[in-house]
Amino acid sequence: MGGEVVVIDHPLVQHKLTRMRMKERSTQGFRRLVKEVSMLLAYEITRDMPVTFETIETPLQTMEAPVIDGKKLVLVAVLRAGVGLLDGMLEILPSARVGHVGLYRDPKTLEAVEYYKKLPEHLAERDVLILDPMLATGNTAVAATDLVLQEKSRSVRFVSLLAAPEGIESFHKVHPEVPVYTAAVDERLNEKGYILPGLGDAGDRIFGTK
Ligand code: URA
Repeated sequence: MGGEVVVIDHPLVQHKLTRMRMKERSTQGFRRLVKEVSMLLAYEITRDMPVTFETIETPLQTMEAPVIDGKKLVLVAVLRAGVGLLDGMLEILPSARVGHVGLYRDPKTLEAVEYYKKLPEHLAERDVLILDPMLATGNTAVAATDLVLQEKSRSVRFVSLLAAPEGIESFHKVHPEVPVYTAAVDERLNEKGYILPGLGDAGDRIFGTK
């Protein structure tokens, strides 16, 4: 049985994603769109976040009003491209904690190799969103999720902009309990492990390195 895949098909997300895919999009334009889409993804993904109630005073009377505990949430950016999703997410989740994991794809084997890990403390009390714009082969997603689960976080979700069907399948073979949130599931991977039709190299397009 496959794991859960949630496609955020809100028209605003889909429209912005289309504009990001266009090869003529400038670095500045791409970055702005990543930020906007990240905010919208965060909005959708957190819609089931638990709320607690606080006693507050409106100008008219006292009430019990709902608040979320933003500190319980951890955003884990997979270096390098995952960092691109942080800006927008932190804009609407300003008290979330942030972790980083460094994983690069060996160009020959396409396997994920760990080179950096710094996660917030007390993950057992926290809900984690792992951020990586491209869920391609699934190897990086599996490795990043392994690292987070080693710390026994309260919950984990994997968040991407685009996912390949092959990547989702491999990911859920290893981590069927971890839901995948994505703006689109594309057609397939090419022989170099790039998503088709995709948007190219997300890191290069966010940081303008090519
Ligand atoms: N990483 C990217 O940046 N793009 C892809 O298409 C696949 C992996």
